[in-house]
Amino acid sequence: MKLKVNGEDRDVDVPADVPLLWVLREELGLTGTKFGCGRALCGACTVHVDGAARRSCVVAVGDVAGQAITTIEGLGSDEKLHPLQAAWVEHNVPQCGYCQPGQLMMAAALVRKHPQPSDAQIDAVMSGSICRCGTYPRIRKAIHAVAGTPTGAPESGES
Ligand code: FES
Ligand code: FES
Repeated sequence: MKLKVNGEDRDVDVPADVPLLWVLREELGLTGTKFGCGRALCGACTVHVDGAARRSCVVAVGDVAGQAITTIEGLGSDEKLHPLQAAWVEHNVPQCGYCQPGQLMMAAALVRKHPQPSDAQIDAVMSGSICRCGTYPRIRKAIHAVAGTPTGAPESGES
């Protein structure tokens, strides 16, 4: 099966009904995307598919073959952080860090759709990504910090 991940074409030999999360982590070594609940309840496994946030633990890999998949590894780069990643650093958002790849992918999808989200929009979207460390106030601050900056450019590999 052919996948397009972070702008690269990747071939994987897996059954079509395997969750995308396992293919990313076990086949492609992209371990930035985390396993939390496995039931679309926590958001730790969030990636983008054609720019939309999807919970990769419940997406069958066969359903996204040929679509542009972006993981946290492809959101920005060491040389050029995504504006949200820079804001995350600036505002010391992570605590233990486990949920943060999913939080960033969720936030990136949010600001792409709503470049200047209100508190209510932020809370509505981000409360679905569970953070046991309670970093929500810093997440909100970091999202506000990028409001109005260009965050909606197509992601690597996205057509
Ligand atoms: S691991 Fe996918 S939503 Fe929790
Ligand atoms: S930073 Fe620890 S779970 Fe979110």
